[in-house]
Amino acid sequence: MNREEARLRELGLWPAHGLVARRSRSAENPPPAVLAPAPSPDGQPDERPTTSTLDWTPLEAAIRSCEACGLCRTRRQAVPGTGSRTARVLVVGEAPGAEEDQRGEPFVGRAGELLDQMLLAVGLDRRRVYIANVLKCRPPENRNPTPDEVEACSPFLRRQIALLQPAVILALGSFAARALLGGEGKVGALRGGRHLYESIPVVVSYHPAYLLRSPQEKLRAWEDLCRLQDALAEVDGAPGVAPSPAATASTASVRLDAGR
Ligand code: URA
Repeated sequence: MNREEARLRELGLWPAHGLVARRSRSAENPPPAVLAPAPSPDGQPDERPTTSTLDWTPLEAAIRSCEACGLCRTRRQAVPGTGSRTARVLVVGEAPGAEEDQRGEPFVGRAGELLDQMLLAVGLDRRRVYIANVLKCRPPENRNPTPDEVEACSPFLRRQIALLQPAVILALGSFAARALLGGEGKVGALRGGRHLYESIPVVVSYHPAYLLRSPQEKLRAWEDLCRLQDALAEVDGAPGVAPSPAATASTASVRLDAGR
């Protein structure tokens, strides 16, 4: 068993007939016919107009001191995001959970461990991508974000995207997908589709917390990660997959950092 197979086994994805073959046969992943529209300007005035001009450090400070919704009263701390500010891949989750609230970093609990493994399986590691959530503060009891909370927090994610200018966005779960793409779509319906946030390709996949509960969907999540690789390669104008220091994925050539 080679190292890639070993990593896939760790993820519960091996043996899976045709898995590697599927990865390399792009003809089996044809682009869907419909491009989802870029989110239209929502017409809502940004209640904190300065957010749209902040650089990284003041943006993080604004997130940490934000009182735009009631979550500021129950959070231990806000969780702005983590990773490389020159990353070409932005991973967007839903909201911090208990461990993230405690540590101030996104995806550090069990779902985060799975996310790390999945990213590594396609040659990405968390230090070389940027990871953020739709909500920067933990909803009590890990309940779903409310529409008001999403709206109050969305200027922060918008500004993070504007600063990062990622080549590709990976949206994990329906809250991330809806925040980026608008609409009410479910992950099952959105994944596999070609979507854009402004002009940035968005790959939609299952949230790792859902995968922990539904491991039978990991194979589909793996397919989505392969789509992420393809989207990166497409942006670069060449097929291929990037290595990272910890990567075991088989091919190389997509750049992970913007080199900015
Ligand atoms: N789930 C998320 O969506 N984000 C985190 O940071 C942790 C768990």
